[in-house]
Amino acid sequence: MPEEAGAASVTATTEAYYDSAEADSFYAEIWGGEDIHIGVYQLPDEDVATASARTVETVAGHVDFLKPEHRVLDLGAGYGGAGRYLATKFGCQVDCLNLSDVQNERNRILTANAALSDLVHVVHANFESIPGPDARYDVVWSQDAILHSGARERVLAEVARVLKPGGHLVFTDPMQTDDCPPDVLQPVLDRIHLDSLASPGFYRKNLAGLGFEELSFAEMTNQLRNHYDRVRQVLGARRAEMMERCGADYVTRMLEGLGNWVNGADRGHLTWGIFHFRKNG
Ligand SMILES: C[S@@+](CC[C@H](N)C(=O)[O-])C[C@H]1O[C@@H](n2cnc3c(N)ncnc32)[C@H](O)[C@@H]1O
Repeated sequence: MPEEAGAASVTATTEAYYDSAEADSFYAEIWGGEDIHIGVYQLPDEDVATASARTVETVAGHVDFLKPEHRVLDLGAGYGGAGRYLATKFGCQVDCLNLSDVQNERNRILTANAALSDLVHVVHANFESIPGPDARYDVVWSQDAILHSGARERVLAEVARVLKPGGHLVFTDPMQTDDCPPDVLQPVLDRIHLDSLASPGFYRKNLAGLGFEELSFAEMTNQLRNHYDRVRQVLGARRAEMMERCGADYVTRMLEGLGNWVNGADRGHLTWGIFHFRKNG
């Protein structure tokens, strides 16, 4: 398949996946309705929502210079939990860009309920083609979303375009390790219909080529493992109820898929952490 058509087909599959009633119900129920990303756990049996909120606080520690005059872009913003956190804590403007209309609608409702609609704006778009002018944002933020792209170089080029000189990119992404053997990841990719995963080396090489300096990488692969194991436990404990909501097939495949992510981490094939880059001024 030509590259362009391949990327469009990955985007269409992702949009259909996140817009499906099953996925919406699963993520809203099991993650708690604010966040859909890997949690940072202090206790092994901690609540998924509490650990997920801690991830937002931890990533936000990298951009604690934010002020009300700053503008942030959240790529693949899900239900907008991070955007509301940043707007509340720093008073900054946040554009939540996301492909899923179902999630965007929930984001708008939660944002209105929090009286944050003047600061948090929900934008339906594909992060491979970000709407708006060059050099608009002080910070580009993304949590566990770029893995869904079939054209990651293009996403990074778009990030470079929309960031101001000296602007910051902070993101997390479930990745394959730099030395992951070929052809071992298919069971991992199948869970959420992915074609491939990026690696730390991929981000370093491409972002350096776009004129970014790496400020830090906080590697926390243990948290990826904790998280998928914890989600698997919670889903297992609520299996009957979640089968009613999402269907038996979805729950059975998800439990198996989550187990494959735990195994992928145990075998040293997967990694995760917080990347912080700055665009050269
Ligand atoms: C695992 S969820 C993470 C959501 C959110 N960042 C969070 O941490 O709660 C992945 C998100 O990426 C979004 N996404 C995937 N592909 C996208 C694309 N091409 N353009 C914009 N958003 C996309 C999905 O709709 C979904 O909201």
